[in-house]
This record gives sequence, C-alpha cells and structure tokens, in this order.
Amino acid sequence: MRPGNHTIDEQRQGEALGPLPGGKGGRKLYLESYGCQMNFSDSEIVASILSEAGYSTTKDEGEADLILLNTCSIRDNAEQRIRHRLQHLKGGKRDNPNLKVGILGCMAERLRDQLLEEEKLVDLVVGPDAYRDLPRLVEEVEGGQKAVNTLLSREETYAEIQPVRLDDKGVTAFISIMRGCDNMCSFCVVPFTRGRERSRDPQSIVAEAHDLFAKGYREVTLLGQNVDSYKWNVDSKGNVKDPGQPVVRFAQLMDLVSDVNPDLRVRFSTSHPKDMTDEVLEVMARKDNLCKYIHLPVQSGHSDVLKRMNRGYTREWYLNRIAAIRRIMPDCAISTDVIAGFCGETAEEHGATLSLMREVKYEMAFMFKYSERPRTLAERKFEDDVPEAEKGRRLTEIIALQQEHSRERTAAQCGRIYRVLVEGPSKKSKEEFQGRNTYNAMVVFPKEDVQPGEYRFVRTTGHTSITLRGELVPEAVALAEGFVS
Ligand code: 5AD
Ligand code: SF4
Repeated sequence: MRPGNHTIDEQRQGEALGPLPGGKGGRKLYLESYGCQMNFSDSEIVASILSEAGYSTTKDEGEADLILLNTCSIRDNAEQRIRHRLQHLKGGKRDNPNLKVGILGCMAERLRDQLLEEEKLVDLVVGPDAYRDLPRLVEEVEGGQKAVNTLLSREETYAEIQPVRLDDKGVTAFISIMRGCDNMCSFCVVPFTRGRERSRDPQSIVAEAHDLFAKGYREVTLLGQNVDSYKWNVDSKGNVKDPGQPVVRFAQLMDLVSDVNPDLRVRFSTSHPKDMTDEVLEVMARKDNLCKYIHLPVQSGHSDVLKRMNRGYTREWYLNRIAAIRRIMPDCAISTDVIAGFCGETAEEHGATLSLMREVKYEMAFMFKYSERPRTLAERKFEDDVPEAEKGRRLTEIIALQQEHSRERTAAQCGRIYRVLVEGPSKKSKEEFQGRNTYNAMVVFPKEDVQPGEYRFVRTTGHTSITLRGELVPEAVALAEGFVS
C-alpha cells in the first residue's frame, strides 16, 4: 500500500499480505485488508499475534486454513464489496470444508451477529480492540464453534506488540500512535466502530521507529484518526496526570520521532483542522526530515454544512489554518477529503466547496459522495435528501476541478532537483525506479545503480497529472544548484 494515501480509500481494496516469516505451526492464514491505512497497520498486528499462535501467512487463498478479511464500514459501497467477497468465500467452502472464514475491523464491529447468525457468512467476528483474543477465538473456531469478540476498549493500543512488516519492499512503514476517535462528525461511523480516542505510550513509538531504522526502513507514517489530538500524560480535560513525567503532545512526539535519525523521513495522517496547532507546523518547518505534506480534510467549503457535519470549525477557521501552513511552510503540499451531497446541501453550498478548492488549490484530494451510515448523528437528525444523480453530478464537478489543480501543482514542482527516497521499481517499467519527494509526489526516473531505501537526487524534467519524471543527478550538482530536501 502507498504511504500518503491518507484516507479510508476503497480503491486500495483487498490487498493480500505476503508470506509471514516465523510461523511456528503448519497452519496457513490468508489475510486481506480493506479501507484505511489503520486497517493495513492493524493487519500487521494481527499477523504478529497469530504467528505466535502457530499461523504462517500465505498469498495463495487456495492453501489457507483460515481466511480473515480486515474490513471497512466508512461508506455503504465498501461494505457491499466485502459482503460479495464473503459470499464468494462461503461458496469456496464447498471445496474445502475445513476452511474457516473470519471478519475483522469496522464491519465486524458494526454487524457482529448479523454476519454470524443471520447470514451465516463467517465463523469468526473480531472487532478492532479484540485482536489479542484471536488465538483463543481461533481455537474455538477450529473446534467447530463460532466465535465473537467485539468489545471496545478505552486502553488498548497494542503498544508493545511488534507488528510483522508484510510490505516486502522494506523502505516505508506505518506506526500507529493512537486509536479511536472522539469527534463525532455527524456523517462518520468510525466513533462507533473504533471506539474512544486513546494515545499510545511515546516511548514505545520512538522505540518502534528506532527498530525500523535499524532494519533499513527510511520513512515512517504516524497513524491515527486525528493525530493532532495525540496526548500522553494528560487527561481529557487537559490536566497533567503525573507531574514527574513530561507531557507529550503531537508536536513533541514529532520532534522525538524525527530525532531518531536525520535520514528517517516522518509523515503523519490524518490531521483535523480544529486541532492543528502552529506548534506542530513550527516543528515541521524546523526539521528537514519532517515531510512538507499535510492531509487536512475539509469535507465542505460552507460553514452551514460544516455545522451540520459537526466538524467544529467554519470555512474561515479552515482557511486561517491554510494561511498558517503557508506562512510557516510556504512550500508545503496540502491534500484533502471532500464529501459531495451531504444532507441538505444546496447548490450554493456545493458552490462554496468549489470556491474553497479554488482558493486552496490542493495537490491532491479524496472525493466521495455522501453515504448515510446507520447510528450516526446525521442518520438520526437529517434527511439524506440530495438525489443520487445530483450527488453524482456534484462529485463529478469536484473531481474535474481537482484534476485541474493536481496537474497545475505537479507542473509547478517540475524543473527542480529533489532529494528522493527510492521505494523500488516503477509500476510501469522494470527499467525505471520510483520514489517520493518531501511533498509526497511520486518521482519516476531511470534505474541505473539505485537501490530501494537510498536517497538520490533527481532533476524533474516532465510530468503527468500526479507523477513527476526526471533524471538522476550527482550530489555535487544538487549541492551546486540547490535542491529540495
Ligand atoms: N460518506 C461519504 N464519505 C465519508 N467519509 C467518512 N464518512 C463518510 C460518509 N458517511 C469520508 C470523509 C473522511 C474520509 C476518511 O471518508 O471525507 O475524511
Ligand atoms: Fe470520522 Fe470525523 Fe473522527 Fe475522522 S475525525 S474518523 S471523519 S469522526
């Protein structure tokens, strides 16, 4: 999966994890992840827990004894896709009666008994805070029973579990720094499926970053539903818990992780506009290895819609945060999430989203049609009254505008020399390699003697709408002409 794909993104669906080293037994696990980066990160924790219980992972679902889907509930079409997949797997059980199928993640949390009892689609249902219980649950399932645990926790962060890194490139990795969300945006199912917000011990985060660097990783993405509200040693009212210990908020955490090594790049996702402080921006500006890229979901450009969404900020507040980013880091890349056709959205309100996009000119955006989710505030309070065709029309308009902006922003990055972290062969050609610059733009260049995990200087000479193309230049040239770090 791609770092920088900072959203719950249905396009990255159903990626299977590679073979897992160190499984003790002969049993095989096929693990498929859907949705957001947090799910992909959680799958690495699940793989770790189940490797202790004797499972090794396989990329071939045909040889699996246990198939687990780590699922997403963010929009209805994400759930439908997973449901189809489960029906297909149920069919596959005819060929292998011993095969067990389980569901993890947000859909497991949301639908529990429905999948198990009513639709009889799965043998095992495990919510995002119950993965430590997997060995016991799997044993029950192996014994022919059905098993469920969807208890949410106020404490679980899986802090000391060493995720099994299943991305075989070994250059970029995720570090989960917090779980859950307390924001209650009215459209969002996440607070119901992932529970209350809690932060992970900073020492364990820094230790994980050190360990990754020692293993050759050169980029970490700090993950959380709302990283700006990360806090350690402070309670929810802002009171210090232990006066003998330092308080660590997100700005300090970034500082600590960026100190692991100047050659370890640090990214993060996702920020919430209402909590993003200048302090965070100032730390980012100060350190070269804190990448100059912020994903700042706006959702709508109209204050009335933002109020109905319970986002906790107005259009003006959001634009003030954008102005702060531009003031403190004039070159910082910014991306966003937008929802088209939220409850009661008028043509004028939709127009305000387009005008905000024109004002900010995002590098990139994830754009969605509003999808009503059960139990959310919006479902209870508002009518989902923008007709489907109109939602589609508005979304098309938003996407077309963003494409213009992406192309313009990419073009503006062309012609400079970048220090690029090489990730591996490009998708299109074995003769080319790809990596990212600090702004999270993909840069493709001829392979030459380059290795994944190295930093190389690339002069960009051409581009498509979101990818830069260039040629390697020697360090002396980069130093003489200047480069973007
Ligand atoms: N309908 C459409 N999009 C949604 N998102 C979250 N909930 C919904 C929903 N009910 C989008 C938001 C969020 C991203 C992760 O998914 O834009 O930022
Ligand atoms: Fe959902 Fe809002 Fe929390 Fe993001 S911040 S996970 S959109 S409730």
